Amino acid sequence: MKRILILFLLAFSLNAYAQSAEDLFIEQMLARMSFEDKIGQLNQLEGRIDITVLENEIRAGRVSSIMNIVDKKEIDRLQKIAVEESPAGIPILFSRDVVHGFKTMLPIPLGQAASFNDEMIKKGARIAAVEATEAGIKWGFSPMIDVSRDSRWGRIAESYGEDALMNARMGVAHVQGFQGESLKDATSLAACAKHFVGYGAARGGRDYNGTDLTERELRDTYLVPFEAALKAGCASIMTSFQDNDGLQVSANSWLLRNILRKEWAWDGVVVSDYGSIGQLTRHGLASTRAEAALLGLNCGSDMDMQSKVYIQHAKSLVEQGLVSMETIDTAVANVLRMKYRIGLFENPYSQNETNLTASKQHIDVALEAALESAVLLKNDGILPLDASKKQTILVTGPMADAAYDQLGTWDMDGDTTLTVTPKMAFLSRQNSAVKVIYMPGLEYSRDKDKSTWKAVAKAARKADVIVLCLGEEQILSGEAHSLADISLKGAQNDYVEFLASLGKPLIASVMSGRANTIEEQAQHCNALICQFHPGTMGGEALAQIVFGDVNPSGKLPITFPRMVGQCPIYYNELKTGRSGANKRAVSSLDDIPRGAKQSVLGHDCRYLDAGTKPLYPFGYGLSYTEFTIQEPIVEKEDKVYSLSDTLRFSVPIENTGKYDGKEVLQIYVTDPYASVSRPVRELKEYKKVFIPAGESCVVDVEIPISSLGYYNWDMEYEVSLGKFIIQVSNCSDSSLCSSSKVFNIEVK
Ligand code: BGC
Repeated sequence: MKRILILFLLAFSLNAYAQSAEDLFIEQMLARMSFEDKIGQLNQLEGRIDITVLENEIRAGRVSSIMNIVDKKEIDRLQKIAVEESPAGIPILFSRDVVHGFKTMLPIPLGQAASFNDEMIKKGARIAAVEATEAGIKWGFSPMIDVSRDSRWGRIAESYGEDALMNARMGVAHVQGFQGESLKDATSLAACAKHFVGYGAARGGRDYNGTDLTERELRDTYLVPFEAALKAGCASIMTSFQDNDGLQVSANSWLLRNILRKEWAWDGVVVSDYGSIGQLTRHGLASTRAEAALLGLNCGSDMDMQSKVYIQHAKSLVEQGLVSMETIDTAVANVLRMKYRIGLFENPYSQNETNLTASKQHIDVALEAALESAVLLKNDGILPLDASKKQTILVTGPMADAAYDQLGTWDMDGDTTLTVTPKMAFLSRQNSAVKVIYMPGLEYSRDKDKSTWKAVAKAARKADVIVLCLGEEQILSGEAHSLADISLKGAQNDYVEFLASLGKPLIASVMSGRANTIEEQAQHCNALICQFHPGTMGGEALAQIVFGDVNPSGKLPITFPRMVGQCPIYYNELKTGRSGANKRAVSSLDDIPRGAKQSVLGHDCRYLDAGTKPLYPFGYGLSYTEFTIQEPIVEKEDKVYSLSDTLRFSVPIENTGKYDGKEVLQIYVTDPYASVSRPVRELKEYKKVFIPAGESCVVDVEIPISSLGYYNWDMEYEVSLGKFIIQVSNCSDSSLCSSSKVFNIEVK
């Protein structure tokens, strides 16, 4: 076995040059702080408590950060108390969950990921930062970069999907959008990468449940987005709630000290998740709250979000010699450093006077994001509708006028008065040719009341086409909102069947926080569009896509299962000894002869009743036009590379259809032979390009050979020698691409 190990320099310095002014400031600050002042800097409080209690805590210097106050005047008033009346006068860091927008809401991160457009993510994060800083917030709890592969898990909505590279690149784009050119700028919002780490792999997809990730899975997949975000300058990270392999992350010094601080040499702030240090008692890892504080402090959680165990117990822990003063000083220094970098000591009060919240400029970004995020899953040719044709459209369904629900899970501050629902968007297009009738049929996603369906049928008879808006209320996804059954709720499935039976063309959109099981429903529709909760402008985006003003260009960032039992399901699973070779697959259990011998169906890694294929694979999404991927032109003719080389090639793509459109070129790499099992394929690059109808473009791709590696059995980063298979396509499943191309390279 010929193989070369590349021991990469894993440690990177986020501040290559010594920042002496910063170091000096922190040193001097620490020198003049009392012990109480220091512990106060490790305490983050909920702002939604009795205001007098809060003011007293601030005055006493017992609060470092306050979350969930979003009134600029109030923020500045409380800040004044901190700066002028607290013993050390250290400003407070006001924080909030700004995840996918503030007042102007963008699609949920899962939807944004469907754009396959990092620049879009950055733009979206920028407008969210501008709006949040206008309200006085300086610290936002995102990006959420948990690789998520199970749609039962309600928080899949908040992530950038199932792929590590996408979470890494989009997480970086989000950090750049939030933090701008400099953290000190008035419109910059300090980012917080969460949830460190592995939270998305909750057993059974049940939120808060533990995970069983091996060190290799962590290093190859789950840590990847975090390393990228921190390298990009992300100011802070948040630990996750769950235990991995029995140890809750706030008490895992291997993750928080060895990986974060030693391997990555990172010097930002580690904040616990809400109450999670106190919850170490519930995990059974600490017998008292004091012991929980001891674990949190000694294992490297700098700031205690809301459980108040540091403020209550740190002093006695230090007095007993259980926690060293050096540990306390290091944690405090991390917090002071972040405040210093934000410029809070120079400008503690709100600075952003841009007045751009909910401006036309921001609404346009929300629309662009909703358009880029819509994924066309099926189209028998009905779409796009011809807007000049005389026609009556029936707009119906529980998400057709759900101004609140279409905003998605983290709309803490989202302004529903800004929302454009499908009903509003279609009605606004009424003219001499287009007539729109609106009847909900179902009032909300869990509604089972069929009493209006007769009237709907009557209206449908007058219609030429039905636009059906299916989906989920926002309460059905997000934190603690996991589902064991991910089919559409209420009477929605019956409604699809009922409408289909009326014999009118049926165009459906699904606005959800996850991938639903919709195989049968898809069969009933002439066209199907996935719009993961699309935010403020989701309805307008739908109308623009249905009428062909904009050609859909989204691709799925997660795999759609056919049945919930397939979860977790993802495109880059590891090879098995019994995958994909089965010629005797059955499409239904009924196809199995009665009394059949055990071996008759072959031995394949699949469910007998669901097969091996998902409903829709990762990277899948249709367009109104046709793209042809041509033979890649590889820079090196012999296609032989050394470990330090970069694979470079150009891919000509032609738009052979009638519509202008955007296509996402996806490059997957397979390592056919390695020292541990490797994924069947892995996304290594994606690029979205606009190509006018009838024209071509050339996409240049660069993939460093060093990025093709993995962690081997000895937990060393290694790149295999020998053949690699490069798949150039527009979907992870090349059989669904109109024209995918494959070539091999050799690494020597
Ligand atoms: C969530 C975090 C969030 C925090 C603060 C927790 O329950 O897990 O994602 O940032 O609350 O609201």
